[in-house]
Amino acid sequence: MIHLSPSLLAADFANLQRDINEAQAGGADYIHVDVMDGAFVPNISIGVPVVKSIKPHITGVVDVHLMVESPERYLEVFREAGADLLTVHVEATKHIHRAIQQIHDLGAKAGAAINPGTPVSVLEPIINDVDMVLVMSVNPGFGGQKFIPYSLEKLKQVKALAAAAGRDDLLIQVDGGVTLANAKEIIEAGANVLVAGSAVFDGKATKENAEAFVKLFQEV
Ligand code: DX5
Ligand code: ZN
Repeated sequence: MIHLSPSLLAADFANLQRDINEAQAGGADYIHVDVMDGAFVPNISIGVPVVKSIKPHITGVVDVHLMVESPERYLEVFREAGADLLTVHVEATKHIHRAIQQIHDLGAKAGAAINPGTPVSVLEPIINDVDMVLVMSVNPGFGGQKFIPYSLEKLKQVKALAAAAGRDDLLIQVDGGVTLANAKEIIEAGANVLVAGSAVFDGKATKENAEAFVKLFQEV
């Protein structure tokens, strides 16, 4: 099954509940929350109180993408706020294995993210420990950027790594520059959780945009 995780970064922050409802009405089964600290990435977004406020309105997976330095400092508070899936960047922690353990100890699913310049090989030692791998297909920090084509190659490598480890259950997420036009090749390369911000929340047809992704998922 392919999942749609609309990124709230592109939503109207004054109308988060409305936008979440529309995306879910269109079939989105995850909601992607981008947390940025102005240090790991050159932007600041939202934090724990926002996750807490939106949690009651999310019917699917609360998918929290931590773009923060030393994310282990915040795992517990985001879990308490309602995160179901916590993703940390391998570049942001000295102890990725420990961070994954900590996420599991909190009862959440654990994701490991890699930036465009980070090779898939860093995931080899932890492939049996993570629930999800996140392949960044733009440099993190901003929505609305263009998909980096080499990400397709990296998705294929993650898929091969997962197959070699017998991890047919691995969630393979892609984030950045995902559109209706490139979703098919992204899925064919191995992704099964597609994050899309600006392609879903355009301020006009959020529900219809989500529906179009879900329809495409069923056809691939
Ligand atoms: C980028 C974020 C993404 C971003 C995706 O740092 O992690 O989730 O919001 O936005 P689009 O789909 O517009 O590229
Ligand atoms: Zn993200």
